[in-house]
Amino acid sequence: MTLENIKLDIDYVRSQFPAFKDPLCKDWSFFENAGGSYVPKNVIDKLTEFMTSTKVQPYAEYPMSKIAGENMDKATNLFAKMINADENEILIGGSTSINLYVLSKALKKYLNKGDEVIVTNQDHEANISPWRKLKEDGAKIVEWRFNASDHELKISDLEKLITSKTKILAVTHCSNIVGSINNLKQITKIAHKNNIIVIGDGVSYAPHGFPNVKDLDVDFYTFSLYKTYGPHLALLYGKKEILKDLPNQNHEFLEGKYPYTINPGGPNHEELVSLIGIYEYFENLFNHHFENINLNILEKIEKVNNLICEHEEKIANPVLNYIDEREDFNLIGKNKIINKNRAPTISFYSDKKSSKEISNILLKNQIATRNDNFYAWRCLEGLGIDTKDGVVRISMVHYNSEKDTDNLLNALDRI
Ligand SMILES: Cc1ncc(COP(=O)(O)O)c(C=O)c1O
Repeated sequence: MTLENIKLDIDYVRSQFPAFKDPLCKDWSFFENAGGSYVPKNVIDKLTEFMTSTKVQPYAEYPMSKIAGENMDKATNLFAKMINADENEILIGGSTSINLYVLSKALKKYLNKGDEVIVTNQDHEANISPWRKLKEDGAKIVEWRFNASDHELKISDLEKLITSKTKILAVTHCSNIVGSINNLKQITKIAHKNNIIVIGDGVSYAPHGFPNVKDLDVDFYTFSLYKTYGPHLALLYGKKEILKDLPNQNHEFLEGKYPYTINPGGPNHEELVSLIGIYEYFENLFNHHFENINLNILEKIEKVNNLICEHEEKIANPVLNYIDEREDFNLIGKNKIINKNRAPTISFYSDKKSSKEISNILLKNQIATRNDNFYAWRCLEGLGIDTKDGVVRISMVHYNSEKDTDNLLNALDRI
């Protein structure tokens, strides 16, 4: 078999997630992954291991504490390697919302009265509100609105909004409603030509393949680890050249010790250590599919990303096609995934039934999903959708199977 013919072994993938054998979950097709994903057994094992033998204050000389500290560092270092960052460019915090909020406070130092901050109306509120609040400090907020006909953020519109006063641009890599993958690399290039700091929200992107932050060249990038097969934590990447100049928002004696200066307080220790399990899971995926190839961590991640991407395309395109063809359903965003132009995060609504009614029928058919605005209420407002009833969102990841797709299509047929 040539490398090009290798397909994701879905039975192997699913065997790594204890949830799929659990009596409570096993009969459901799970499509709420953009809300939060299940975790592989490696993550559960790391968490249990930490809680069993090393749940003491880390970094002392006795073995339980020493190992706890070593594993905390190991988790950070592995994640840095997985996304092509340096270890002192990674900050693990409680959530993306918290990470972006503390970052916005720190970045105030770059703003003078009347300076401009660009936010979109396609983002989740986590990457809008903290930046909009900078208005209280004299910043002018400028909104980059998505195109009403195809729901996409147009780079030509961004170019019209940039002025010599623009200092910060906060933009999503992938909207949690529209699903399109924005060309963050090109957006960043344009922003940098104009000396603008870019903050990319990768929460809806990373579950479908970890990003290469150096290649994107963004200044800051964030994603939620509880949606990338881990515990309830979030990662913030920042370029060290900027991080080292930001004000210390932590204890006074930590002055200069970036990235710990950004967040007042550290992450949850046991959850941090369990991130090693995410790495192990990806390494296992790599070894299962590509035996005997000697690659570095980043190259392995890239290979697994490609497998995931191809599988997601296979299971999501029939759903996109089905929803697009149904006259009573309105699909949001692109109707086909081609070359990773879209995530398998599929939102729709109906003219005939409320999103709540549709979601209830799906639940009766053991399709786990929900209707909501998913905190992207400006996006829903822009689409002219009632933010209370919201959209029905079907969000898939690589552990969804073709059988899940069939179950979903059968359930949709009953509506
Ligand atoms: C695209 C996007 N950005 C940001 C967030 C906020 O993440 P967190 O829950 O970690 O604050 C979410 C959460 O759903 C999201 O989907």
